[in-house]
Amino acid sequence: MDIILKGGEIVAPQGSKRADVEIKDGKIARIGEDLSSPEARIIDVQGKLLFPGFIDTHTHFKLDAGDFFTADDFYTGTKAAIAGGTTMVLDFATQNKGETLSEALEIWYKKAENQASCDYSFHMSISEWTPEILEELKTMTEEGITSYKLYMAYDNLKVRDNEILEILKAVKEQGGIIGVHCENGDLINELIREEKEKGNLSPKAHPVSRPDEIEAEAVNRLLTIARLAESPVNIVHLSSALGYKVIERARLEGQKVYVETCPQYLLLDDSKYLLEDFESAKYVLSPPLRKEKDIATLWQAMREGKIETIGTDHCSFNFKGQKERGLMDFSKIPNGMPGVEHRPVLLYTFGVKEGILSKEQLCALLSTNAAKLFGMYPQKGAIAEGSDGDIVVWDPEYNGRITKEEQLQNVDYTPYEGMETFGRAEYVFLRGIPVVEQGKLLIENQGKFIPRGRTQEL
Ligand code: URP
Ligand code: ZN
Ligand code: ZN
Repeated sequence: MDIILKGGEIVAPQGSKRADVEIKDGKIARIGEDLSSPEARIIDVQGKLLFPGFIDTHTHFKLDAGDFFTADDFYTGTKAAIAGGTTMVLDFATQNKGETLSEALEIWYKKAENQASCDYSFHMSISEWTPEILEELKTMTEEGITSYKLYMAYDNLKVRDNEILEILKAVKEQGGIIGVHCENGDLINELIREEKEKGNLSPKAHPVSRPDEIEAEAVNRLLTIARLAESPVNIVHLSSALGYKVIERARLEGQKVYVETCPQYLLLDDSKYLLEDFESAKYVLSPPLRKEKDIATLWQAMREGKIETIGTDHCSFNFKGQKERGLMDFSKIPNGMPGVEHRPVLLYTFGVKEGILSKEQLCALLSTNAAKLFGMYPQKGAIAEGSDGDIVVWDPEYNGRITKEEQLQNVDYTPYEGMETFGRAEYVFLRGIPVVEQGKLLIENQGKFIPRGRTQEL
């Protein structure tokens, strides 16, 4: 059915304007004043903000963590995402050693098949680099996979510096973009060993084993390699002021560097590692939570438009039974935390409502920049004629509170428990389908795979 949204304020990075929006056959058909159509369902959205569907650049659904999986799979994770206003997620397909990229992609297609309530695509994580894998990049491009992740930590995933150089060059040639997990894996292994030797086995030791220098060193090394490759690069889940300083310096010298950070690095600090009764395990993720000065630096960078995207790094593990695997040894706590449902409301509350970010900046950070960087603009990331009918009708007046009981995320805690929030996704349209109304998810499983094209420079 055609839909006309009447009287809302359309938000875009370059400015906002009051206009009606008509969605027809899954696309935005018209934007203008006093739109009408005899067949259309008219929805009064006066006083509401219309954002292009939000895009989460970083999720891990149904991630294999050895002999168990993350608590959220594509079914539960994408339901939670769209209920919060996220109409598209970019999950990480991961090539295990010995696998081809096509095999890894097939596994991820299967994980998501008939499960998704929001649209999705995959970044491809490369863990083994051979001449055959180089050839496969063309196949990936044909499949619409144009972004990659490389790890500088985790023994089973990390690639060597010379391989990063080659991969950066090869992906650039394909018009793709690489995101890198910047932590020095060898040093982490050594610091973990030291902590254990001292008998420090609780989650308190987790941030000690991954200090900010570990991130800054890897960022510096990566940017050196990217300069040699003459390639732009995206630094994912940046957590520290020290790491950001390295990026600022490189940018001053003219290097093209994109930065993603996450709500947890903007809102939570390392005092969470001092909680009693193993509670701190809920906050064990990599990189770890940092200090107030790091948080302040990231907010300031965001305010200045120097952070391009915010992804959640949603990688949920239940406290009971999953995080508890590390009760006797912090290094066995599965790394990661949930967030895909709450990213928009957290950033609206602590960014826009606090007066730190404008709603236009929020639009860029949560949607438009991701669509451009990851090759799907203006199909996604814009309320424009011809774009997909992905629209979030945001009620800026709504007061809410985050609790584990109310979340759709399939996990037994939320790191944001009890936080008072402002705003909510009152309606969400996914390619014209009204999937959320009055803040409630009405229809599941409407998501589909979105093939992507070349990265667009920001
Ligand atoms: O602790 C985290 N972030 N787990 C997810 C994997 C990653 O490194 O992004
Ligand atoms: Zn990572
Ligand atoms: Zn991640």
